Amino acid sequence: MTITASSKIRDVARDIPASLVVFERYGVDFCCGGDRPLSEAVQGTKLSVGDLIAEIEAAAEAQQGEDSLHEDWSRYSPAGLTRHIEQAHHEYLREELPKAGAALAKVIQVHGDRHSELFDLGRVFQRLRNDLLAHLEREETVIFPAIRDSLGEGTPGEEAEEGALGPPPPELLDWLDGLEADHDVAGGLLQEMRRIADGYGLPEDACATYGGLYETLAALEADIHRHVHLENNILIPEVREALARLASS
Ligand SMILES: [Fe+2]
Ligand SMILES: [Fe+2]
Repeated sequence: MTITASSKIRDVARDIPASLVVFERYGVDFCCGGDRPLSEAVQGTKLSVGDLIAEIEAAAEAQQGEDSLHEDWSRYSPAGLTRHIEQAHHEYLREELPKAGAALAKVIQVHGDRHSELFDLGRVFQRLRNDLLAHLEREETVIFPAIRDSLGEGTPGEEAEEGALGPPPPELLDWLDGLEADHDVAGGLLQEMRRIADGYGLPEDACATYGGLYETLAALEADIHRHVHLENNILIPEVREALARLASS
């Protein structure tokens, strides 16, 4: 694609996977706030839209054909994407959320008396963890199976394919809206955590556990951004398009 100042963030993120590292570098919201042009993404930063585009183009060229972080997921079937999301991102969250929770509890216990903001961080994290675990469960047991049952099974690596296997549940479109609403809430909670933790910059009296916690929380945030990007910008629009095709056929 040709990138211009009016290109939507989500389209660039979908079509040029290497752009994600550039968006991450400048804190551009590409998962829940992707429905904005690049010209808006640079507002409030020292970056010009021309520089942003040049960096995205350079990243795309440097990372052509590299690791799976830059894999072109838009070539995958919706079913293949759901499998990848479950294996890569849902498993990650199930492993990392309890670890982060335990580290947070320990840091609160040791440093809470001098850093009362840690209690707020703990409360927001608790809400995020509970919301996400319920959300993953719903995706895995209800919504993703409904996508696979109505649009066809697939595995990562499979090219997109046409052809329906069964009628989609009538509520599927509403469920997709619900997923996007959940993602917005999770995105807001992550922003709130980053604000409370002062951008995950460590205070001077921080110990190694404190540093490890902030690293874990920043990594968790980055993974959720990529996870939600795959669902909001690729999976959900593809499923909506496939359902529209089915409805008109
Ligand atoms: Fe998910
Ligand atoms: Fe999701």
